[in-house]
Amino acid sequence: MKILVIGNGGRESALLLSLRSSSSALYQWPHNNCLDFVAPFLPVEQTYEELAGNIRDAGIGLVIIGPEKPLVDGLSDKLRAAGVDVFGPGRDGARLEGDKAFARELMDSAGVPSPKYRIINDPCSIEDVLSEMTMPVYIKASGLAGGKGAIFASDICRARIVAREILETDRFGKQKSIVVEEFLQGKEISMMALVADGKYILLPPAADHKKAYDGDKGPNTGGMGSYAPVDIPAGLYEKWGSEIIGRTITYLKQKGIDYRGVLFAGLMVEGDQAKVLEFNCRFGDPEAQAVLPLLNDDMLQLFLDVSRGILPPELTTEENYSMTVIIAAKGYPGEYSKGFPVDIGKIDPELTFFPAGVIKEGENYLSSGGRLGGISCTGKSFEKISDRIYNQLEKLKSENIFYRKDIGSR
Ligand code: AMP
Ligand code: GLY
Repeated sequence: MKILVIGNGGRESALLLSLRSSSSALYQWPHNNCLDFVAPFLPVEQTYEELAGNIRDAGIGLVIIGPEKPLVDGLSDKLRAAGVDVFGPGRDGARLEGDKAFARELMDSAGVPSPKYRIINDPCSIEDVLSEMTMPVYIKASGLAGGKGAIFASDICRARIVAREILETDRFGKQKSIVVEEFLQGKEISMMALVADGKYILLPPAADHKKAYDGDKGPNTGGMGSYAPVDIPAGLYEKWGSEIIGRTITYLKQKGIDYRGVLFAGLMVEGDQAKVLEFNCRFGDPEAQAVLPLLNDDMLQLFLDVSRGILPPELTTEENYSMTVIIAAKGYPGEYSKGFPVDIGKIDPELTFFPAGVIKEGENYLSSGGRLGGISCTGKSFEKISDRIYNQLEKLKSENIFYRKDIGSR
């Protein structure tokens, strides 16, 4: 069978490399030439309209969709209509990520623990809604905003400015509504579950480090590193899974939404209570780079089963720890330069490099994005894998890059 992975970032590197040992023919689209040794590029049309038909005509039997945008745009539906199996929800399920107002209302109806929130659809009601909220708040663009749509506002003046900016300018893309949320404090955990046929199975709990700099300082990024599993008292993670993923999936099923793929819940945990900050309709990036290497299952069979509505009774994970540290271009998540050489040196065979914003020129990498890639390791102790990763990173000799030195230290 021919398998296609859609997306060309670090998460998709992890997806492709997790399938490397399968005997199937792997393909990638769009192109990340650093992964040509695993999967050739499938030269198909760039527009989604043409894409589904061309993928079917290329003889692809299973498509695994990495990023949220094609999911929210309904690529899974088009592929399914063309008779291709897809790992990833259709447009209706992907609304959990693509429409935060819809997601919050669904969480309310399904009884999923959440912060207090209000939805604003009209700039005229900004004042009324904000005057009812206790500051500080988080203000979120309801639609996709490239990971930049959640903004902290410490007081009502800032909240007013942010709310207007989202609704009245194009800075966050065209946004019809915003969600204003109670500011929650605690520890963030990434819960991911495989979902099919109204059922779910939890993946090991992971943590992302969202801030750019050590000690959780600096601006929010797409994620500077991750580790798994997070240490959570026995039974508690399963309880949160049932309150959060279980109730959501049951509700979706009642509404006739056949969700197949990964459901990601970003959680804020305080004591033994977890509340949902956000839903994503795909694997986290960089959580996938830490979690996928922990799974010992036949990954192709797993993705294929989920795409056909079948969940395994359990997953086979080893008693291992896993960690990924992201290498980023200096300046990220703000302005950064592109096209500079990235020399990661000879990689320790115990480590994996998951390329993201780099392209290969001959034997060398050139930067092409903000997050250049992640160095990952799995092993029997966090201390050992962390030492291995950081020993490798110390050999990096570029002026133009940075990475956090405290991944896994929470
Ligand atoms: P989101 O785009 O919803 O994942 O938000 C990005 C980041 O903003 C989260 O990982 C949190 O660090 C923070 N965040 C979002 N919503 C809240 C909230 N209601 N309270 C506290 N922090 C939040
Ligand atoms: N690491 C968080 C995300 O993928 O959205």
